[in-house]
Amino acid sequence: MLSGYHWLYVVAVAAVGFSAVARTAFYYLLRYFTDDVLGSETAVSRLPWVALGFIALALFQGGFTFLSGKWSAEAAEGATRRLRDYLYDHIQHLSFTYHDKTPTGELIQRATSDVDALRRFYADQAIGAGRIILLFLVNFAALLTLNVRLALISIILIPLVLLTSVFFFRKVSQLYEEFQEQEAKLSTTLQENLSGIRVVKAFARQAYEMDKFEGDNFERYTRGKRLLIMHAVYWPSTDILVFAQLILGYFVGATMAINGIITVGTFIAYMGMLNMIAWPLRQLGRLIVDMSTGIVSFGRVLAIIREDREPLDVGQHQPTGPVHGEIVFDRVGFHYDGETAVLHNISFRCQPGQVIALIGSTGAGKTTLVNLLPRFYDYNEGSVTLDGVELRDYPRRYLRQQIGIVQQEPFLFSRTIRENILYGVGRNVSDEEIEAAARAAAIHEVILTFPDGYSTLVGEKGVTLSGGQKQRITLARTLLKDPRILILDDATSSVDTETETAIREALEQLLPGRTTFIIAHRIQTVMNADLILVMDKGNIIQTGTHDELMAAAGTYQRIFNLQSQIENELEEDLATTAS
Ligand code: CTP
Ligand code: MG
Repeated sequence: MLSGYHWLYVVAVAAVGFSAVARTAFYYLLRYFTDDVLGSETAVSRLPWVALGFIALALFQGGFTFLSGKWSAEAAEGATRRLRDYLYDHIQHLSFTYHDKTPTGELIQRATSDVDALRRFYADQAIGAGRIILLFLVNFAALLTLNVRLALISIILIPLVLLTSVFFFRKVSQLYEEFQEQEAKLSTTLQENLSGIRVVKAFARQAYEMDKFEGDNFERYTRGKRLLIMHAVYWPSTDILVFAQLILGYFVGATMAINGIITVGTFIAYMGMLNMIAWPLRQLGRLIVDMSTGIVSFGRVLAIIREDREPLDVGQHQPTGPVHGEIVFDRVGFHYDGETAVLHNISFRCQPGQVIALIGSTGAGKTTLVNLLPRFYDYNEGSVTLDGVELRDYPRRYLRQQIGIVQQEPFLFSRTIRENILYGVGRNVSDEEIEAAARAAAIHEVILTFPDGYSTLVGEKGVTLSGGQKQRITLARTLLKDPRILILDDATSSVDTETETAIREALEQLLPGRTTFIIAHRIQTVMNADLILVMDKGNIIQTGTHDELMAAAGTYQRIFNLQSQIENELEEDLATTAS
């Protein structure tokens, strides 16, 4: 992340070095002033020059401090900007499995708060450490030129200061990690509560949610307090050490000055330099402690970066043209967690252009089965071939370009309706094509009733869509993509029967040549399919066409009878009410 910024860091540290040298030169000038100017006969005429010297040194020091601050900030902002971009890109490339098990709030926390801790590390702490080390080196070297014995006495307690810092560093790292974990938990709670706000309100569970939040928030408070107390203990304990060091140094220095071993000017300069060694070193301790937060955050960010990306373009088979859509499942088994199988022994075949329907109880594995096709997940047993080639050998990008899927839970972005429909296509599309897709999804007329038509924003700043409207827009989005293989996962479940019939008729116009998978609960939706798979608990329990399945006693026939019975009763009811 830092590549390209190394030099900026080097010059920033160099600037810090210059400013440290100016600071030390200041004490030399002070010594010269005390020893050689003050008592001399030409003092008055030399005074302006000395004053000019002080001013020049102050400007020099200030100028370089500014430059180092500017350069290190540029490097730090640049590097973290790059890190943010990289993380965003990386997170989008992680597998479905990773996203299934990682709470969104956790990812948001790491991509924002932790990245910011890293920015502070680059901007303040890394450069601050360089500044302190340089200050120490320059001043210690200067002290050595003044008097070796004094110089050595000045650092006698420094190791103790450093040891204390290391001790606190360990403590703070641990506490900060716990704190950050809790903070992530809080973000997750908040994020989840906001996404599920309607459920919370519908069940009037505000108090319960509040309790849960309060509990987590209290834990965060406790951990935050522990962390701050640890900081609070650090300062006085090192203060004592630094003061002891200063008093010791002053005492020895003063004794030497009284005995005439060093001049008064040297003693004054010595006091200044000693200060420039002791206080910054205490800051170094603080910095080391702060760095621990940077290091912890670094680890948390790294944990994401270390996750393998799901390669989009890797595959033994690199197809050139569009797929035909011949699909063969052969004894396919699949599990999400490595233990409980969700699909067992699934076998069926379909020819290009056929319509395959999946029907069955909820949780039967219908969504799971179709999710194998675009390689959202890879099957664990058996084989799936597409046009005779094992599915695993296809690059994911190719499959996802060729397969259009209308997912069971419709999701639209907070953008315009047009942008949402256009989402899946990379090419230029005319308004007519967009409209044709919307018409086929029976949503065109509805869109026209919105204030800005196709330019209406979806979400907070625009229209709030009904479940069925959302579903139909996602359907239009997939139809516009014009995929060779179309998967409709319960794509018309929130649509009334009449609209569904309209969509089905439009789809039938579009379907020729396309292999289509339809998942549905209504028999009506699936009865025209070339092949119907009836699923239960991860197994295919019946296969055949509508007529074949109706001829045999079984689940399909039972579902059909149940559904028609309900429909008949409904019609009778309506008839009696009408008469
Ligand atoms: N499942 C899982 N992990 C996921 C998705 C699903 O463990 N990421 C499990 C579910 O708990 C369920 C089984 O896989 O027991 C099948 O789920 P799914 O294929 O989604 O069932 P559907 O047949 O699609 O059910 P529905 O009609 O309700 O959509
Ligand atoms: Mg499903």
